[in-house]
Amino acid sequence: MIFRILILSLCLALNTLSAESVENTLPESLEWSGQWVGLDVERDTNYPPPVYLSKRFDLADTVEKATFYATALGIFDPYLNGVRVTDSWFSPGWTDYTKRVYYRAFDLTGLLKNGENRIGAILADGWYSGHIGWKDSGRNHYGSQPRFSGVLVLDLADGGRRIISTDASWQGRTGPLEYASFLRGEKYDARNAVDLWAMKGESASAWQPVVVGSEVSPVIQPHPSPRIITFTELPALSVDEQEAGRYVFDFGRNFAGVVRLNLRNTQPGQIIQIKHGERLQADGELYTANLRSADATNYYICKGGESESWSPRFTFHGFQYVEVSGLESTPDTSLLTGLAISNDTPVVYDFESDHPLLNQLVSNVYWTQRANFISIPTDCPQRDERLGWTGDAQVFVGTAAYICDVRQFFNKWLTDLRDSQFDSGQIPMVAPRKVADGAGGPGWSDAMTIVPWVLYQRYGDLSILADNYESMKRYVDYLESRSRPGFLPPVKFHAFGDWLNHNADTPIDVIYQSYFAYSAQLLAQSAAALGRTADAETYEALAEAVRVSFNKAHVDEDGKIYGTNKKGERVGDTQTCYVMAIAFDLLRGESLEKAKGHLVRRLGERDGLLSTGFLGTRDLLHALSQIGRDDLAYALLLEERYPSWLFPVTHGATSIWERWDGWTPDKGFQDVGMNSFSHYAYGAVYEWIVQRVGGIRPTAPGFTHYEIAPVLPPDILQEDAALTRVSFGFDSPVGRIRSAWQRVDKNSVKFSVEAPAEGKGVFRITVPEGASVRQEGNDVDGVLIRAGVFETPLVAGSQSFVLSYK
Ligand code: BGC
Repeated sequence: MIFRILILSLCLALNTLSAESVENTLPESLEWSGQWVGLDVERDTNYPPPVYLSKRFDLADTVEKATFYATALGIFDPYLNGVRVTDSWFSPGWTDYTKRVYYRAFDLTGLLKNGENRIGAILADGWYSGHIGWKDSGRNHYGSQPRFSGVLVLDLADGGRRIISTDASWQGRTGPLEYASFLRGEKYDARNAVDLWAMKGESASAWQPVVVGSEVSPVIQPHPSPRIITFTELPALSVDEQEAGRYVFDFGRNFAGVVRLNLRNTQPGQIIQIKHGERLQADGELYTANLRSADATNYYICKGGESESWSPRFTFHGFQYVEVSGLESTPDTSLLTGLAISNDTPVVYDFESDHPLLNQLVSNVYWTQRANFISIPTDCPQRDERLGWTGDAQVFVGTAAYICDVRQFFNKWLTDLRDSQFDSGQIPMVAPRKVADGAGGPGWSDAMTIVPWVLYQRYGDLSILADNYESMKRYVDYLESRSRPGFLPPVKFHAFGDWLNHNADTPIDVIYQSYFAYSAQLLAQSAAALGRTADAETYEALAEAVRVSFNKAHVDEDGKIYGTNKKGERVGDTQTCYVMAIAFDLLRGESLEKAKGHLVRRLGERDGLLSTGFLGTRDLLHALSQIGRDDLAYALLLEERYPSWLFPVTHGATSIWERWDGWTPDKGFQDVGMNSFSHYAYGAVYEWIVQRVGGIRPTAPGFTHYEIAPVLPPDILQEDAALTRVSFGFDSPVGRIRSAWQRVDKNSVKFSVEAPAEGKGVFRITVPEGASVRQEGNDVDGVLIRAGVFETPLVAGSQSFVLSYK
């Protein structure tokens, strides 16, 4: 109790509290009793103000436990007696509000006063009624009036229970927030914050009766996903004066969130403008053209005084640079603190090597994931888009789960995905299905089969497959029903193709059939895992039939893969054609052998450079490994020429870019219509890095069986080898796994591994002719299971092995 009081006083000083409860569920005996309440302020303006909602109540009894369960059609911050009681952002997040909305629980035990209390919330538009992309599609997408609903449960010392729910007795008012929009930003007039939550006096009379009722009637459920938090604070690294009174701050990395203003000696009414951008132009000015219609600008109107501090609560931006104007004196970097926000998905990886560009690439994957895991997996956090693009999510989920524990986060999104499924079984481009609300098409809609399957592999939780099985099946059935005869794609269908490839359009009928076969295969495997034997057989047969039809329709006598483009011309033979066919196991015998040759040929014809887009890129290095060409995979990974993963890194990238050529020295910035610098799709390469360079891979769902089978760069013994040392850590579901290797001298490489007590792991490496393996501190007790391969079971704890080439 004393501890809570101490914390309480500290938080009161900071005017915020973190009272999120671990117990997220309303007591079983209770039904949701909160009504939807709001304040219908003047809303013919495009950017109406957020509203303050509250109820005053008296407390005479001793309270043992106090929990505030709350949700909104919109986004909210809960308050008790004028103090924000959470540090979470944007509760309750984005769902299809016509179907479901989630509540969160805030633990207020020990925070209530005897006598008068005021429980309440600030309610803003958020995704419900605010402006959202695609390309600012206006507002009011689910409803035009945001609403709040809450249930305060007080368990009393005398064994009784008191419940205070939102109803007509609540009151509302406006306050210092003039508007709050994800795309435009936030405007806050601190002069109007004085006595806002007061119980008595002039300000208290501003409270008016609320309006009760809502435009939609979703089910209200406990929140299944981790909350959105400030996962780190970032100092500004430098500040430059652009022109008198305009200052540009650099945070040294691209992230999503806001900045906190730390102001000194301000005048009442002084207006501070804060603009955000991802990059700078050549003249040092903020580059904002790629934000499209997103203003990404905040205004703070000062109360005036010695010091004041403010950060927005109901908007966020994707940025590395911030331009501030309206100051009365020259600032230093302490004026701003960056608040980087993301869902609270625990970090499960670490990576380090002696290759600085590779280290930066992996860090960029991490930061881009964090920047885009904000309620849903988005394409980008900065421009007027920020949608749950299904294609982006399916290519990245495999990497995401090696970076953070994303099980709950993606589980929640899979509910969004199922909620968005069309009656036909088709899956849309984005989930929640809003604004870009058409069919996803091949590679996008297949998120419905791929995401559950990948999560099941990584976490070993069969309920993931069980929960999604019917939707997976409806999707594959839909593909089947429209693809006959011969399992060929329908004549007309929507497809994004191998999005943002490098001048190598893969025909969409080839993509369609590749993904159709793959989805049918994953469904068959899911059916088998769930013990649905008849379905497993049916869909296995379907997958095989689609493969046969793919071979007939697209693979010619030379083993080249072609399809038909929209103009009816025969096109294909791209890297992506072969990558998909190999990675999705579409070829057999001779045609597989030929495809291997063609993939290598097509890389050679591009001077060893990739030409793949969103779809081909995820599987490119995996496919090369599958055909025994890790050497080429390593060459592509460490390539610095354009296009490559490291090319942006050589130009200072601190995040993964949407395009291979978001910026080039010759052309400058790409087309402003679509040029995000925080797009995780190409970051999907980390899955290959951890699985091949680190060798950490599950061989049974949930890592109950796994291997550490690192593959070395072919030139590792050469003096000028670029990569001679790596170290990976991964918190798998069975515990911490480590895999590290380093060249010790010109004849040997040492592998250090760490295995958890749970799970059955094996260590395996290739042993070149004439080389041998010694287990450190031990005689060889591994076995050469076949010529050239050393394999040994892992025991819990650390082990190291030395591979000696002579
Ligand atoms: C998004 C993508 C998405 C695509 C569809 C873009 O505007 O940013 O990442 O997958 O549209 O092709």
